[in-house]
Amino acid sequence: MKAYDKLLLANKSWAEDQVRNDADFFKRLAALQTPEFLWIGCSDSRVPADKITGTQPGEIFVHRNIANMVVHTDVNLLSVLDFAVNHLKVRHVIVCGHYGCGGIKAAMTHHDYKYVLNMWLRNIKDVYRLHREELEQITDEEKKTDRLVELNVKEQVMHLAKTSIIQRAWQNEQRPHLHGWVYGLKDGIIHPVFEMEAGTPIDPLYHYDDL
Ligand code: CO
Repeated sequence: MKAYDKLLLANKSWAEDQVRNDADFFKRLAALQTPEFLWIGCSDSRVPADKITGTQPGEIFVHRNIANMVVHTDVNLLSVLDFAVNHLKVRHVIVCGHYGCGGIKAAMTHHDYKYVLNMWLRNIKDVYRLHREELEQITDEEKKTDRLVELNVKEQVMHLAKTSIIQRAWQNEQRPHLHGWVYGLKDGIIHPVFEMEAGTPIDPLYHYDDL
């Protein structure tokens, strides 16, 4: 048996279980998804959005990338955000990082990860630069990394609020609320670290007044 055959076998038994518990499970989901949450998480295989939140298929719309970044030129992220906010009408957007994040650790080194990864990690280095004073007072390397994980989540939530997509939804529909969370790989617990209710004032530099 090939390694990937295990996945296909597990899928068959999962699908059978779902139907055994709820005969209309797939019929209902195939017709409609009405998730209340958009999850922007890290691609890390140890942080599966639905498993750690106990959500079922249909309940959470997911975008994942290295170190859960919200990059303003990332058409993939922006398309997901636009669709989730304007079509699915999600009520909450969650940016969830995790302690011990490899992307964050990599960005803290001076190693050349070559062209594309350097480009991505640069966004995290920019977050470090913004908080350099606080971070450089932390002598323990693990604690410093974990603090950057928290600060990065906060910055990415603030990046969401800088988009016209979020500002327009806030103005017209008083949603979605934005949440910054950090998941602990060591204990499986999610820690909320930052929050922006719909309508929270933002830096005027990024505010659009003709939405
Ligand atoms: Co990560």
